[in-house]
Amino acid sequence: MFFKKKQKALAERKVPTHIAIVMDGNGRWARKRGLPRQAGHKVGAEAFRTIANYAKSIGLKYLTVYAFSTENWKRSEEEVNAIMELLEKYLREAIADMDKNRVKFYFFGDLSRLSPELQEEARIAMERSKQYEGVQVNFCLNYGGRAEVVRAAQRFAQDCLDGKCRPEDLTETHFSELMYSAGVPDPELVIRPGGELRTSNFLLWQSAYAEYYFTDVLWPQFGPKDLEKAIASFNERKRRFGGV
Ligand code: IPE
Ligand code: IPE
Ligand code: MG
Repeated sequence: MFFKKKQKALAERKVPTHIAIVMDGNGRWARKRGLPRQAGHKVGAEAFRTIANYAKSIGLKYLTVYAFSTENWKRSEEEVNAIMELLEKYLREAIADMDKNRVKFYFFGDLSRLSPELQEEARIAMERSKQYEGVQVNFCLNYGGRAEVVRAAQRFAQDCLDGKCRPEDLTETHFSELMYSAGVPDPELVIRPGGELRTSNFLLWQSAYAEYYFTDVLWPQFGPKDLEKAIASFNERKRRFGGV
């Protein structure tokens, strides 16, 4: 009976087109267990795998995840290296399992600062998955919202210098097309696990009208049930976009 009711609720709720997640809390998850921070990142990568597959199963079109920020370079070399190695391992495995999972890969951020191996894997993952039609995962790597806006402004200024456009003709739609997220609709729901109540430079331009969902659950423990809680909360919101 309870199960049936739950199935009905799941069938009736509206899944947003685009959900974005700040995958935060790996370090604290590890510390609580007396483990090195790296262990948290490892379990965090597993949590991501589960969420990406679940997202596909419920028909989500876009899932954008914050994996490494422009500010995360401030961490110890040891931790940064461990994160980069995990990312490489994750992408290698994702490429190998690609035909099974059929998840489309895309990347937001300045990848030029990443290792040549990681850049190459990102390129292969994007190239080989571009024909898939299920969920598109946008990995934010060396991503910062401010850096993204500055880059868009630079690209526009260059186009003006090249005689392709004039400053007075710039529109919000055109500016959006200069972002990493060109062609991707804005996220309707931004989820931040890990207990912090801030954006930490995530999708500043794109989340102008996003609904936020914060939870104390740490990312390595965040599962489909938690995603459903966030979606349920989203379904209760009254979005007004400045209207009445
Ligand atoms: C998020 O978890 C992963 C990255 C930022 C790379 P943290 O490493 O920030 O974990 P906490 O916030 O210290 O618990
Ligand atoms: C945001 O988390 C970045 C990622 C999850 C990749 P941080 O842990 O870096 O954010 P702050 O330092 O708590 O603001
Ligand atoms: Mg953190």
